[in-house]
Amino acid sequence: MGSAPPMSGKFFIKTFGCQMNVADSERMTALLADKGMEQAQAAEDASVIIINGCTVREKAVHKALSQLGSYNFMRKRKGGKGPVIGVGGCVGQLDKENLFKRAPYLDFVFGTDTIDNLPEIVHRVENGERHVIYADFDKSMDYSTETKIHGLKAQAFVNIMKGCDKYCTYCIVPFTRGKEKSRTIDEVVSDVAQLVAKGVREVTLLGQNVNSFGKGNSNTANREPAELNNVIGKVGPRAGEENFPQLLRALDTDPRCAELKRIRFTSSHPLDFSDELIACYAKPENGGVARLSPHLHLPVQSGSDAVLQKMGRHHNIESYIAQMDRLRELCPDVGISTDIIVGFPTETEEDFQQTLKLLDRLQYDNVYAFAYSSRPGTRASKMQDDVSASVKNERLNHLLQYQNVIAEKLYVGRVGKVMEILVEGESKNQHMIDKNGIDPQTARVWTGKTGCNRVVNLISRSPRNLLGKFLDVKITAATCLSLHAEESLGQEILE
Ligand code: 5AD
Ligand code: SF4
Repeated sequence: MGSAPPMSGKFFIKTFGCQMNVADSERMTALLADKGMEQAQAAEDASVIIINGCTVREKAVHKALSQLGSYNFMRKRKGGKGPVIGVGGCVGQLDKENLFKRAPYLDFVFGTDTIDNLPEIVHRVENGERHVIYADFDKSMDYSTETKIHGLKAQAFVNIMKGCDKYCTYCIVPFTRGKEKSRTIDEVVSDVAQLVAKGVREVTLLGQNVNSFGKGNSNTANREPAELNNVIGKVGPRAGEENFPQLLRALDTDPRCAELKRIRFTSSHPLDFSDELIACYAKPENGGVARLSPHLHLPVQSGSDAVLQKMGRHHNIESYIAQMDRLRELCPDVGISTDIIVGFPTETEEDFQQTLKLLDRLQYDNVYAFAYSSRPGTRASKMQDDVSASVKNERLNHLLQYQNVIAEKLYVGRVGKVMEILVEGESKNQHMIDKNGIDPQTARVWTGKTGCNRVVNLISRSPRNLLGKFLDVKITAATCLSLHAEESLGQEILE
């Protein structure tokens, strides 16, 4: 790990992509702030600009690169005396020094395994070095870290494993995040305990495949590389290794984490979504994990077995539905969400109809849908990308509208109920105040999430700061995207 002397100036981080990247940006922020730098509110005010880019779809890469171009334009406007600019995240990891060829004005590049070198990199660049690069993978089998947060927070992301060994045929992640490596249960529990001591009340356990957590970690008895190589493949930890349900139970029972209120996790693969994990969703009196939030994000990608097979997903729709049915039996109020790719090579209209049928059958709260985009180096990139862009777009729009109807019905069914939310910040929907004829001088609209991960916009008639508070609120209305609640309907507000 690099070292750097105390630093000054302001930095600005622009983040693209998944929660993993959001968590990585939080770490970058904490690392630079620890060295004495200040976070700028806007890129214009910064002396260091960092783009934390995503490569999962071609569009995401374009977004990061065009953002880079516009920062360079801003620097030129400042007569070349503007900020130093760097690219990190999956874009840095994948494109490495090629980024300097593409954008010679770029000052530094770093990857997903070299975030902790960031202060040193920035120090070197600020001292006149150009084209500084740290984008190698950490080749060791171990993964050990401590979560860093910046400022007071009720919520934190905690990386528990990294990398992915599944190699779904369309996915670039195994190439940008490397092989699966897990922390130990002891280390994660101590880490969460230090966050709880700082005021954190909700953690989201993060990894590309959190439910294969434990595979080959340093608490595994036989860690000979040859032995480990045999394990790398489709499945998570074997009998005798630490596993994800054990981690959930350890967090739920450790006295140092007693004040933790919610445990969430993302993301998962259906192959590792074991009966042991499903059992964690039962009521505590039936052996469940009390603080596990009743929410599951389990990407399915397609409703067609033929497409799933070509995607290299190694499961079928029948087994996926059976998992969801068992989960709902144990936890009827669970909120479920998924990822879908439309327009994968060879996907027919009939395959697509099967995906819609699956949405009907499972009644997801939320569906994140994407048009297939060929990624270099993946197995699918060698298949013919034979669904036209217009058909992909039609299917994507159709699916989103279809899902909106399902979600709206589900959400309307919640009106009148009292639900607990954690307030995450002020809502963008301040206009809801005018619509409701409430005094805009004192009222605020806040946004929060229920345990089952539904977004709630809460109208509060008082000016008090609700950020980070757990409140019981009464749901007054619903759209296909969110629930609305009011604070002043006479119900008890709990903190
Ligand atoms: N094209 C489109 N979507 C993709 N995803 C991953 N790779 C691709 C790709 N090549 C989607 C999957 C995954 C989510 C994070 O991004 O649905 O679950
Ligand atoms: Fe990509 Fe599949 Fe791994 Fe998820 S499980 S990160 S989709 S390769």
